[in-house]
Amino acid sequence: MRIDILCLFPDMFISPFEQSIIKRAKESNLLNIVIHDIRDYTHDSHHTVDDYPYGGGPGMVLKPEPIFELAETIQHGVDTGDMPVVLLTPQGKLLTQKIVRDLALQPHLMLICGHYEGIDERVHEHLATDEISIGDYVLSGGELAAMVMVDAITRLIPGVLGSEESAKDDSHSNGLLEYPQYTRPETYRSWSVPSILLSGNHEKIAQWRKRQSILRTATRRPEMLQQVILSCEEKSWISERSLNQN
Ligand code: ADE
Repeated sequence: MRIDILCLFPDMFISPFEQSIIKRAKESNLLNIVIHDIRDYTHDSHHTVDDYPYGGGPGMVLKPEPIFELAETIQHGVDTGDMPVVLLTPQGKLLTQKIVRDLALQPHLMLICGHYEGIDERVHEHLATDEISIGDYVLSGGELAAMVMVDAITRLIPGVLGSEESAKDDSHSNGLLEYPQYTRPETYRSWSVPSILLSGNHEKIAQWRKRQSILRTATRRPEMLQQVILSCEEKSWISERSLNQN
């Protein structure tokens, strides 16, 4: 997969993209990330990327010309067919694991990082194919949001995670939060690992994990359960727990 990132602060990406799974994905040629500085596509001596908003008001707005010119340079000569051009903005659709899964199937993505008070609306209307927010809060720019997206997408590119690190039990991969995990020592400061996990009974362990996953989701993120089909037995786990709490 190739990901082109258009931004104003390219150095922000240096360290995060040189660590851990993203580093490994790049080294094994499963991922090619190209960072572009929007400022390089300005033509005035001050390399101006922003200007005052028409109609007045506080802050500055990113100009459309360097962003369009850079994006069109990247698109030139490549089959842009269905290439998603994602604008990172707090006004976008909330990022979910489903969106991440869909984007991980793409051969080529473009991510545009906004800054300052906003980006000229013509970038939203005539360049971006998708607008994504990583949460209901405002960052000082889209760079951190782009890093979050790249990280989430990279771990789903086939071949990036080894079988030991499979993403299949991740929280959100099946619409539920992940079950609790334990490792050695068996007892730490008098806190013991649930005995079922030491039993060697794989069927019972799988059932315990499913139950924990469902109960944890019901407690922490009950709205997620509206999207999940539960068996009668699984529903009874939730109602029993509610009864025990009252
Ligand atoms: N830029 C500023 N805030 C953002 C957010 N929450 N998500 C994506 N991009 C942003």
